[in-house]
Amino acid sequence: MDSSIDGLLGKRLLLVVGKGGVGRTTVAVALARRASRAGKRVLLAQTNAPESLTSLLGGETGIGPTVTVIDERLSAVNMSPKMALREYGVLLLKYEPIYRAFFENKPMRSFLAAFPGLDYWTMLGKAWWHTTEVQDGRHKYDLVVLDAPASGHAVAMLRIPEAVASAMPKGPLARDALLAHDLLTDPKRTAATIVTLPEELPARETVKLARDLRELRIPLGPLVVNAMPPGEAVEPGVAKVLAAAAHAAVPANLAGVLAGTAILAARRRDAERILEELASDPGLPTIHLPRLPKGRLGPEEVEHLAGLLEER
Ligand SMILES: Nc1ncnc2c1ncn2[C@@H]1O[C@H](COP(=O)(O)OP(=O)(O)OP(=O)(O)O)[C@@H](O)[C@H]1O
Ligand SMILES: [Mg+2]
Repeated sequence: MDSSIDGLLGKRLLLVVGKGGVGRTTVAVALARRASRAGKRVLLAQTNAPESLTSLLGGETGIGPTVTVIDERLSAVNMSPKMALREYGVLLLKYEPIYRAFFENKPMRSFLAAFPGLDYWTMLGKAWWHTTEVQDGRHKYDLVVLDAPASGHAVAMLRIPEAVASAMPKGPLARDALLAHDLLTDPKRTAATIVTLPEELPARETVKLARDLRELRIPLGPLVVNAMPPGEAVEPGVAKVLAAAAHAAVPANLAGVLAGTAILAARRRDAERILEELASDPGLPTIHLPRLPKGRLGPEEVEHLAGLLEER
């Protein structure tokens, strides 16, 4: 595996996966920014997320279900299954009134509502379709970064192309599903990067997710360990001060600082132990990102994180 960050950003499709709340969206935006800064034309696609990418990307425009141009080399979309299905239907049936007659009638709608995984397919299918989009004789986007749903949902979503292709082996749906499956399993064009926190539960979910993705033959990129507690807390000088203070009478305000430092040191030690475990399973190269002090991250923090994205 070419695990360098340039290798990762040289793909056509980058799947950002991981447990809920670990920072998938933040990392997806940082990766997209990093790639666009390196000269790539990038589409950042989010899967029906209630929160908007707007606050992380800056700018005036809200990011909704139609592609929004952020700057010369970066566009973003928050895909909604309904809109994606409509686009796909129109694309397949070529003509909007036929789409409406076909898809937007009651029996068809209830059939579609019962189609397992249809939402996943329309969103993954849309992301795939954007990887194939051509403009002025070349690919419109060099890279599509897909901010995937949380672990179990992402695996269900990524299983769909193969399932669709084997359930209905003929017709345009199967043709697209097979092409999407080829893309998803091609290490030259696709990488899935797992994001985790250096904590017990997300780490456990990372091990399971990596297994599931390997079973689906989806190539894995480096593991992004997000929000690492600062290393200073475990430096020998700090440890000495903490040890000495444990037996001394210290003023109350200093005692508070020392207690805070001791908590950080304990968190850092736990994080390091978890990193060691992750190094043997799933055993991927890692990228570490620090825990930033600010509660709500914005475009500046994302730029900062984008600059720190280096494999180690
Ligand atoms: N490195 C970091 N330092 C500090 N805060 C962070 C960091 N990364 C993410 N956060 C914060 O953690 C929260 C969760 O991040 P984010 O929304 O990117 O996670 P997610 O995995 O996309 O979540 P969801 O499962 O809800 O989609 C946000 O408030 C974000 O600002
Ligand atoms: Mg998110």
